[in-house]
Amino acid sequence: MKRPVTKTRGLRLRPMTEADLASVLAVEQAAYAFPWSRQIFTDCLEAGYSCWVGELAATNPGALPGSGCGLDPSGMPDSGLTLPEARVSSLVTHGVMGMGVDECQIFNLCVHPQWQGQGIGRAMLRHLLQIARRRGAKTAFLEVRVSNARALALYRSEGFCEVGLRRGYYPASGGREDAWVMALELMQPATPSPPFP
Ligand SMILES: CC(C)(COP(=O)(O)OP(=O)(O)OC[C@H]1O[C@@H](n2cnc3c(N)ncnc32)[C@H](O)[C@@H]1OP(=O)(O)O)[C@@H](O)C(=O)NCCC(=O)NCCS
Repeated sequence: MKRPVTKTRGLRLRPMTEADLASVLAVEQAAYAFPWSRQIFTDCLEAGYSCWVGELAATNPGALPGSGCGLDPSGMPDSGLTLPEARVSSLVTHGVMGMGVDECQIFNLCVHPQWQGQGIGRAMLRHLLQIARRRGAKTAFLEVRVSNARALALYRSEGFCEVGLRRGYYPASGGREDAWVMALELMQPATPSPPFP
């Protein structure tokens, strides 16, 4: 059964731009032992990958997005999350996904360590998968370090299954680490949706 995302409120997801890269790198470097470089993010943007960021806004909790029609006042899709009280507007998560003919590949999913464990990663993951479904993807793929228990738990709980193992795929302290290849069959939405940005 799908888990509800109810722990946090006030997360706004929007497309990543070049201007976000300093903040994105700060999150990336705080979260990963082997972070992506700025150049990799630039390449992803230039390649037209689906690149998203999530930020927390300093907003009156009563007026936060998430309780209405699914769009925040700016017209961007609402993650459905709301946080009790976000002190400053800050970028806390990013996600990067490539689209193929009928499949998508999630290349990066990252939450700042200060904000982990509050449903933000799940919200970004669901957001990426929703976009992939709307664009007609039938299967989602991703790779994850075999030691990354937190990410594995998240992906398994969203229905991903291990479908392969890439030996020595990731750099690791003192050597290389294997990666699970995980896949999820995507159900298509019942009714056609308007195109996503
Ligand atoms: C993996 C990551 C994206 C998850 O995001 P998050 O916001 O921390 O996760 P969520 O709060 O949405 O929790 C989702 C699930 O992850 C698992 N999880 C979260 N925190 C956990 C912890 N401390 N220990 C074990 N599992 C944990 C749980 O299954 C949780 O679901 P539940 O709360 O319903 O039990 C985030 O931890 C992260 O950015 N890690 C560093 C970068 C990374 O490893 N990215 C994945 C690369 S493949």
